[in-house]
Amino acid sequence: MDRELALEFARVTEAAALNSARWMGKGDKIAADDAAVKAMRAMFDTINIEGTVVIGEGEMDEAPMLYIGEKVGLGKGPKVDIAVDPLEGTNLVAKGMNGSIAVLAVAEENCLLHAPDMYMEKIAVGPGAKGAISLELSVEENVINVAKALGKNVEDLTIVLLDRPRHEKQIKVIRQLGARIKLITDGDVSPAVATAFPDSGVDMVMGIGGAPEGVLAAAALRCMGGDMQGRLIPEDDVDIKRAQKLGIDDINKILTLDDLVRTDDVIFAATGITDGEMLKGVRFYKDRATTHTVVMRGQTGTVRFIEAQHYFAKKPKYVKMDG
Ligand code: FBP
Repeated sequence: MDRELALEFARVTEAAALNSARWMGKGDKIAADDAAVKAMRAMFDTINIEGTVVIGEGEMDEAPMLYIGEKVGLGKGPKVDIAVDPLEGTNLVAKGMNGSIAVLAVAEENCLLHAPDMYMEKIAVGPGAKGAISLELSVEENVINVAKALGKNVEDLTIVLLDRPRHEKQIKVIRQLGARIKLITDGDVSPAVATAFPDSGVDMVMGIGGAPEGVLAAAALRCMGGDMQGRLIPEDDVDIKRAQKLGIDDINKILTLDDLVRTDDVIFAATGITDGEMLKGVRFYKDRATTHTVVMRGQTGTVRFIEAQHYFAKKPKYVKMDG
């Protein structure tokens, strides 16, 4: 993929964030998601790619736009796999809480894991702890190994988990070890990406969250030299069959970063909707709105933060800002 595409994809997440941010605090997560999806979908069709959505809003019969298998882009240019979450953290926007983003990853064809919509056990760290994590090891061993790799005392490590009853045991073990914990209500992509930024205050993400979100986080960690592992958690036979349909035969396999994202030819982009550790949320002014975006390329490892001003008077038609 040409480097110019990175900026094009930043425009895609900017559009989704701008449209969705109008719904902040309105208590309507479906409308907030819908606004993000529509803007993202429209913006994709301004780009010279032959894209196929491999992670999106659901199966074709569940989602009118950005469904799995949908073709996006102008139909000329590189053939690419696209993973999207136009609004990651729907509850966060609906309640006006921190941590929601519009996010996507694009890679050369057949190089992103076609993750089914089910849970995934995840462990993610930044470049400083690459090679120090394994889902074959216990929580205790992983925490100690990551602290060692980062040259930190265990007590100074910060680990992010979703605040869910399913994580009770893990939380107990981490607390006994003395590490710091940050529990989040939603949105585990952002903190996973944040592990790659030493100043973010996040050292590791652990626990069970969405599998599609796992692939998105893996794309960023691949760009930045971080590390991640995942294991699908099917709830029943239907989940197992769905995974098989997407080409995953061994449902219990521990998926390494290379299994999740099989190429360095990957681009990751995310724009803050509400404020977060890594990205500021959308701000509205008299005549414009501002966005804060991170975009990265796996081929070079370049990470760019883009602060953009979007003037209402000149706004393109596809950014409806209709909240
Ligand atoms: P949304 O689909 O509402 O954006 O939720 C996102 C999320 O919080 C992810 O970040 C996380 O991986 C997953 O949901 C957790 O699922 P659950 O809420 O079922 O524990």
